[in-house]
Amino acid sequence: MLSESVQAKLNEQIQKEAFASNAYLAMATWAERENLPNIAEYLYNSAEEEREHMLQIYKYINANGGQAHLENKLDKPKEKFKNVLDVFQTVYDLECSVSRAINELATWCLQNGEHATYFFLQPFVLEQQEAERKVSDIIVFIERMGHEPRQLFYLDKQFKKFNEQP
Ligand SMILES: [Fe+2]
Repeated sequence: MLSESVQAKLNEQIQKEAFASNAYLAMATWAERENLPNIAEYLYNSAEEEREHMLQIYKYINANGGQAHLENKLDKPKEKFKNVLDVFQTVYDLECSVSRAINELATWCLQNGEHATYFFLQPFVLEQQEAERKVSDIIVFIERMGHEPRQLFYLDKQFKKFNEQP
């Protein structure tokens, strides 16, 4: 059974994953409006991944005698972006803040003898490392290729390849 305190910490993480999912959706809307369909697809997929993380934690709490809870009021995500680079810098900041939250949670679990939850969190820890690496590669790519209107068609096309990667 989960302790009240670990439940509360996990429920906080649920809100963060839900916020991340909403933040990706807001960016997908921006990309659609800018006629960047493959970039939009990348962002939709990322929104789905964050929701999947949220669900995994949600189910973990409920399966272990706790009570999972999603707030009906989350922070409002950023909706206006200067350009594609601004979008992916926002993605990078978002992923880093999720990484920090997961790492702090894992550290707290270890310090408080919550070993089962500590192990449950390990795939999330590694996935965040992977997410940060992936997004920083994309930022380098955008910086090299450029994001002026003339380059946008090819930049968006390149995301088709990113979307096909597992
Ligand atoms: Fe996540």
